[in-house]
Amino acid sequence: MRLLAFGGWGQLGSELAAVARDRHELIRPTRTEADVTDPDAVGRAVADARPDAVLNLAAFHQVERCEEDPGAALAVNAVGAWNVAHSAFLAGARSVYVSTDYVFDGGEPKGYEEVAPVHPINAYGVSKAAGEMLCGLVCPDSLVVRGSGLFGHAGSSGKGGNFVETVLARAAAGEPLSVVDDQVISPTAARDMAERVLLLLERDAPPGIYHAANAGRCSWFEFARAVLDLAGLSAEVSRRSSAGDAVKRPRCSVLLHTTSTALGLPPARSWREALG
Ligand SMILES: NC(=O)c1ccc[n+]([C@@H]2O[C@H](COP(=O)([O-])OP(=O)(O)OC[C@H]3O[C@@H](n4cnc5c(N)ncnc54)[C@H](OP(=O)(O)O)[C@@H]3O)[C@@H](O)[C@H]2O)c1
Repeated sequence: MRLLAFGGWGQLGSELAAVARDRHELIRPTRTEADVTDPDAVGRAVADARPDAVLNLAAFHQVERCEEDPGAALAVNAVGAWNVAHSAFLAGARSVYVSTDYVFDGGEPKGYEEVAPVHPINAYGVSKAAGEMLCGLVCPDSLVVRGSGLFGHAGSSGKGGNFVETVLARAAAGEPLSVVDDQVISPTAARDMAERVLLLLERDAPPGIYHAANAGRCSWFEFARAVLDLAGLSAEVSRRSSAGDAVKRPRCSVLLHTTSTALGLPPARSWREALG
């Protein structure tokens, strides 16, 4: 397949490039070449590439900054999603929008299937929920693929690294860590998520929403402990509550994989296995 990925030079994009090598042709315009907020630039990139599928990995996802400037979050995560999905539609290509567990409010302790109604509780989540909806409206042949707490070799460029790297760096520097213990997620290896995106395209998965987190769940505190145990580092880690944090985040945003299972796709491996 010929794939065109916007936002393809970040954490997930780097892993996508690694897993797509020898399997597909992957074109990754930089942000300077094609900012997703610029419909003309996006349209030109799609017309030049003539792709089978257009992937949108670009995001404004610093949660605190999204809260301060929801217009900027909507411009990238929602209007940008429209621009990319619409160009895909005009080119007769599939569209893939990468999304997040933050579209949920976190009040469901069992976690969320793909069909669960979205109800975001912060500006980032609202902008991504809007992006998901717009993709489906402007390009009916759209896949929305959600992950949660991504970790990968490249680290997130938009967030300045990822949680795993931060924990390891602090521990190596001998700094104590204080980590929230009242938010539960399904950590997602960027490599596994990239592989799942390709698998969905290769199997010609029907349009719709797919969860691509690793299996299992943990609090951020438990995640930090697992990272340190695996690295053989002893560091002081204390639990903290998120009450009083500037931005509300979901308490439980575990992503369950009902759609992939129904299609007979292989189950996701556990986050602990992926971390190793
Ligand atoms: N990281 C997480 O924990 C997490 C969790 C759940 C879901 N997600 C979703 O997963 C996707 C990928 O995340 P990631 O960790 O790979 O992020 P990342 O490392 O920050 O990569 C994002 C990429 O998008 C580019 N970009 C940002 N704004 C753009 C714009 N206006 N136009 C074009 N490109 C733009 C960035 O380019 P520059 O570096 O040049 O700005 C970068 O290449 C995002 O959709 C995010 O919402 C992430």
